[in-house]
Order: sequence, then structure tokens, then C-alpha cells
Amino acid sequence: MDPLTLLFTLSLLAGGLYWFVCILGPAEQKGKHAVQLSGGSIQRENVQENYNQYWSFFRRPKEIEKTENVPAFVDTFYNLVTDIYEWGWGQSFHFSPAIPGKSNLESTKIHEQMAVDLIGVKSGQKILDAGCGVGGPMRAIAAHSGCNVVGITINEYQVSRAKAHNKKAGLSHLCDVVCGNFLEMPFEDESFDGAYSIEATCHAPKLEDVYSEIFRVLKPGAMYVSYEWVTTELYRGEDPEHVEVIQGIERGDALPGLRSYSDIAEVAKKVGFEVVKEKDLAKPPSHPWWSRLKMGRLAYWRNHIVVTVLETLGIAPKGTMDVHEMLFKTADYLTRGGETGIFSPMHMILCKKPEKSQES
Ligand SMILES: C[S@@+](CC[C@H](N)C(=O)[O-])C[C@H]1O[C@@H](n2cnc3c(N)ncnc32)[C@H](O)[C@@H]1O
Repeated sequence: MDPLTLLFTLSLLAGGLYWFVCILGPAEQKGKHAVQLSGGSIQRENVQENYNQYWSFFRRPKEIEKTENVPAFVDTFYNLVTDIYEWGWGQSFHFSPAIPGKSNLESTKIHEQMAVDLIGVKSGQKILDAGCGVGGPMRAIAAHSGCNVVGITINEYQVSRAKAHNKKAGLSHLCDVVCGNFLEMPFEDESFDGAYSIEATCHAPKLEDVYSEIFRVLKPGAMYVSYEWVTTELYRGEDPEHVEVIQGIERGDALPGLRSYSDIAEVAKKVGFEVVKEKDLAKPPSHPWWSRLKMGRLAYWRNHIVVTVLETLGIAPKGTMDVHEMLFKTADYLTRGGETGIFSPMHMILCKKPEKSQES
């Protein structure tokens, strides 16, 4: 091959690879390109080992339900998946009902804004985001409500990502992020005017522990809303297919055992909340939340090829392919959970911390 043809062929290949990875790779509005995939706070040479440890810990979800190691492994999980989520999904790590005529991004924002509308807070008030991820919901909520939002996440890498996104969005004055465990939060008693958690408290080994912490930091009369991951009334523990789907969701999403929808209000009342409203937002007439996963099947395969190429070339850390594969399989379990109706990621509960009585 003469030098000119070689140069032309090489530039074509390089251009094709750049287009495949950087342009085609990211599915919509993202914070990450495929070439930037990392293991979060885990050093790149330790990603594979951390994945193996995570997998052996969460392989049998029911057995680790109440273990105190759960938050540490949830932290490992988010080190492993945060970049992949941002690259393939966006800055909000949760589902929302599909809304005809609206994009995924718009439906996501509507779902987030509804949370803050439900807790009835005013501009300038301080609210808590328990399990804030990289802050997609926090930014939408701060911009929509004018509230000061303080987010907490167990994962240090997410704190740095959230802070960078807040700054870029010009919302640092309204949004703050703290690294910590929501089972023992570094906040004063009665210091928040409201609180919300979006698809995060499902990571707590005992729901009571996180709900009681949220209760503690809320001012009397303040409201709390949560979108919970639950098994629904259609789930049958004696049906092997149901068990397979739910365990597939648990082990691929760092969950120490999914709760039944019927446990949520009971726990809220036990820690002292008044339950104002409870509703499964996934139920019809809502359109399927899982359609986003289904429609993304082609994109998943494309991403799988991208990840394989990047790991083989040494650009993505060793272990990235395994993490991606795990998420790919989990997407299938989530879809089956949605289609059969045995699982919901948006069982909404709205609670109020009672006003102080006159005598107290
Ligand atoms: C599925 S993500 C949802 C993130 C965010 N709410 C969103 O919708 O984009 C779950 C979040 O809960 C956080 N989390 C899980 N266990 C936690 C714990 N014990 N303490 C603090 N954050 C925790 C994770 O770090 C992660 O940010």
C-alpha cells in the first residue's frame, strides 16, 4: 500500500473510531464519553478485583440482607457503575413513567419536579436529597423550586461529579453535596424544611434506619417524599420465575433484599411519620417506565461493542466489560419485573413529621 493510501485508510479508521465512541456512543445528553470510563474512586488496576468482590458479596442477596457491610459494597457498586450510568443513561439515575410526546429527559424532569411539588416547600428553604447520585434530580429540583438542596451520597466519586455538574449548570449557590452514610447523617436535628429520596433508600439494609434519620433531621411539620423500589401485590415468593427476576434485580443493583410495597407505610409510621399519601406511580394509566430499557436494547449492544473495544485497547480499565455485562443482564430483569408487574421502582410515599404538640 502506498503511503498516501495508508494515511487515508488510517485517518478513516481513526475518524470512524472517534465517531463510534464519542458521537454515536453517548445515547443522549450526558456527562461522560465512552473513552472516559473509569472505576470512579477505584484505581484502574483494581477495578476487576473490586468487581469480583462485589459480585461474590451480592450473588446471594437474601443472605446479606442485614449485614453492616452493605453500605461499603454499595459504595463499590457506584464506583464501578457511575461513569457507565452517566454515559449510557444521563445524570439522573432513576426511572420515570414514559410520557407520550415527551423525551426521556423531559419525562425524567417531570418526575423529579413532582417530588418537590409534593413536599410543598418554598423558594429559599433548605431540603435534603437522601442518596443524590451525581445530582440530576437535585439540579432540576433546585431550578424548579428555588430551594437550597443538600444532597448526600455514600460515594465520594459521585460527590466530585455532582459538584462539577452543579458548577457547570450555574447552580452551585443552590446545590451542595456531602459524602456520607444516610444511615447516620452528619446533619443537625430539625435542620431541614423538607426531604426527598429518589430510588435510593432501597439500598438501606433496614428501611427503618434511613427513615428514622430523615425524620430526625426534618423540622416538625416538614414533609418527606420517597420513590421506593418494591415488589408489588403480584409478586409470589413461591413462583421460581418471580424469584429469579427479583434476585436478578437485587444482585445487579446492589440491593440487600427488595421490600414489599406493603412494608413501606408501616415503617414510616413506626419511625413517627404521618403517612399523607401512598401510590404506585408505575401503575396504569402511567405508561411503562421500562420501555426506555427495551427501546435501548440496540444501544446496549452498540455500547457493549464500544466497551469491549475500549477495554481491549487498554483505554477503559480491565473489568469494565464485566460491569457492563452485569448491567446489561440486570436491564433484562428490570424489564421482566416491569412487564409482569411484580416490581415497581416508583412506589411513592408522602409523609409528614408531626407538628410539636403544645405540651412538648
Ligand atoms: C439509584 S442511585 C439514585 C441517585 C439519585 N437519587 C438519582 O435519582 O439520580 C442511588 C443513590 O443512593 C446512594 N446511596 C445508597 N446507599 C447509601 C447510603 N447508605 N448512604 C448515602 N447514600 C447512599 C448511592 O450512592 C446513589 O447515589
